[in-house]
Amino acid sequence: MKKFSPLSKDFPHLLLGGDYNPEQWLDSPEILAADMELMKEADCNEMSMGIFSWDSLEPEEGVFQFDWLDERMDSIYKNGGRVILATPSAARPRWLAEKYPEVMYAPRPDRRHLFAKRQNQCLRSPVYQEKVRIIDEMLAKRYANHPALIAWHLSNEYYGRDCRCQTCRLQFREWLRRRYDNDLKKLNHAWWTPNWSRQVQSFDQIEPPENGYGEVMIPGMNLDWKRFCSDTVYDFVKLERDAVKKYSDKPVTTNCMNFFERYDHRKVATLLDFYSNDTYPTWWEGLSDDVVARYACFSALCRGMMDGKPFIQMESAPGINMAHNNFRMLKSTQLQIFEAMLFLAHGSDSVLYFQWRKGRGGCEKYHGAVVDHYGKTDNRVFQAVKTIGGMMKNMDGVVGTTICADVAIVSDYETRWAINGELEYNKDRNGYQAMTEGSFAALFKQNVAADVIGYGADFSKYKFLILPPPYMMTPALAKKIKTYVQNGGRVVSFYMAGMVDENDLTHLGGAPGCGLRELFGLRIDEMTCYDISIGKCGYENAVTYGGITYPARKHAEIPVLEGAKALGSYQKDFFAGTAALTQAAYGKGQAYYVAFQPEQSFLDAFFTDVLQAAGIQGIRAVRGDGHIRVSCREGDGERYYFVFNTSETETQSVILEEPMTDLLTGAKVTAKTSLPPLGVAVFQA
Ligand code: GAL
Repeated sequence: MKKFSPLSKDFPHLLLGGDYNPEQWLDSPEILAADMELMKEADCNEMSMGIFSWDSLEPEEGVFQFDWLDERMDSIYKNGGRVILATPSAARPRWLAEKYPEVMYAPRPDRRHLFAKRQNQCLRSPVYQEKVRIIDEMLAKRYANHPALIAWHLSNEYYGRDCRCQTCRLQFREWLRRRYDNDLKKLNHAWWTPNWSRQVQSFDQIEPPENGYGEVMIPGMNLDWKRFCSDTVYDFVKLERDAVKKYSDKPVTTNCMNFFERYDHRKVATLLDFYSNDTYPTWWEGLSDDVVARYACFSALCRGMMDGKPFIQMESAPGINMAHNNFRMLKSTQLQIFEAMLFLAHGSDSVLYFQWRKGRGGCEKYHGAVVDHYGKTDNRVFQAVKTIGGMMKNMDGVVGTTICADVAIVSDYETRWAINGELEYNKDRNGYQAMTEGSFAALFKQNVAADVIGYGADFSKYKFLILPPPYMMTPALAKKIKTYVQNGGRVVSFYMAGMVDENDLTHLGGAPGCGLRELFGLRIDEMTCYDISIGKCGYENAVTYGGITYPARKHAEIPVLEGAKALGSYQKDFFAGTAALTQAAYGKGQAYYVAFQPEQSFLDAFFTDVLQAAGIQGIRAVRGDGHIRVSCREGDGERYYFVFNTSETETQSVILEEPMTDLLTGAKVTAKTSLPPLGVAVFQA
């Protein structure tokens, strides 16, 4: 595995820093001067600037002022820092919305947002696109060769708003014309419109789905609308990328959002030079392996966006997080360090924060920041960040290394849209993600690395594939999965596999369709959906596997076996005793089918067994007591082991198979060591 540095080779360090909003302090030169001193004091080396600065950069249409940004770029560079410079399109200036009201988002054709907040523009508005292109090109031209600049940050968390303004309505129709070759017969078939007498006679009759006075009861149409909205983001990212690339050869990214499903992040990633992501671990659920695993899984998703390459963790919270849940929990210093190291352990080349300094006003003034209103360095959060900075300074070797995983979880946006949009059977909108994260957590507890990849990835480099409900299936994908297993791969599929095609039309002839019955050796005969609010209906099932009975509280289907053997069976109802979990040999490989929606206890037990059967072991070179979690980043022959004690109360021992260097202390560690509660170590082999 070769190292790949997401950022320019001339700054080969892990990045520490984050969103810096000097435009809020332009009348306080003493604060701006202090920022530079504080940046050095905290061992921070990066500032993300310009994210919401449009009205400070272009206060009137066509009138630009860059002097303040020039000065900040120069100062940061002089003080040893680097800049990831944003395009400001996430929040438009007031003059723009006033002069061209059509740039604002319209949830309904007759109702537009007033100028307010952020991320509520119409990304298809020609005026908006033109104004964004102009400011982006101005920035790119001006800063392309600034020595502080290391990368471009396009906009901020593209939101994928489903705008229904006149422009979007018309463009949706055009988009449908293209998708269905201008052939209404094809569209009517795909949307199955004779159902409820809804046949379309002209593309001009089509309105976007709207839950109020409009249509939302045609799943194929809903799916196309999601695709259209996702393509809207894609096209806009492309517009911004092209504007910047016209003048600058610095790498380009945009900050994505874990499993946020409003747009296909994987498609957008094809436009980027490196992937970056915002994650705000909340920790209020309590610290358990499952919770830690969730955040590691987000990182696995980011790596999987670019074929395993490291990514940039663009935002997280230093201290308290005021925005992402209702419960504002303080993080202990140790937890702050734990969180930062967790990002690095799973493939990030940075720990960047929202925000560098708390503003005096505005809705984020109490959100965690490296620099508090207090303004000094002797407060806990500043010191925690400084400690993290000290640790990261010793870890330059980690830059560009990645994780080599034997297992991949295949998570697809369109499949998720389809299964989550399923109107009758799937009442649990979180099942797809729960199976993704739950499977990851089961492996994580065995210290087995997994990537989260898309259907387009090369399956052959993995020994094991996990398919969260692969509800939507095409012949090409089915063939790819079958070939993989035929050649010796192992696959675990969750329920509702291969039920529909790319238009959400069911496959005829028995599910799983597209020839997957042959792979799994079964046919799904019937399925049932239990009440998702547990306890309300009291109707649920249970599955016995390996002598233990596990709950099946959400979804259960009854397979008819056509060659597969049952590994577990239902315990209740008229179908008690029938298979709930199966295994079938296919070619040189094995195919497992989980016919119900399990909970974590089942996943933990089941994956322990299937990994063992596949001969996949957790990391051995560094291992330890029950709460020790290890990941390994490697590249150019170097190996770095990140070791965590996930217990909040117990010290855990760690065994090393060979002497290694503890990068955080510089000490040589030979056979055995220990980690205190929430302790972290990074060993170089
Ligand atoms: C992010 C956003 C930031 C900031 C942060 C607060 O979603 O990108 O600008 O608002 O949330 O946690």
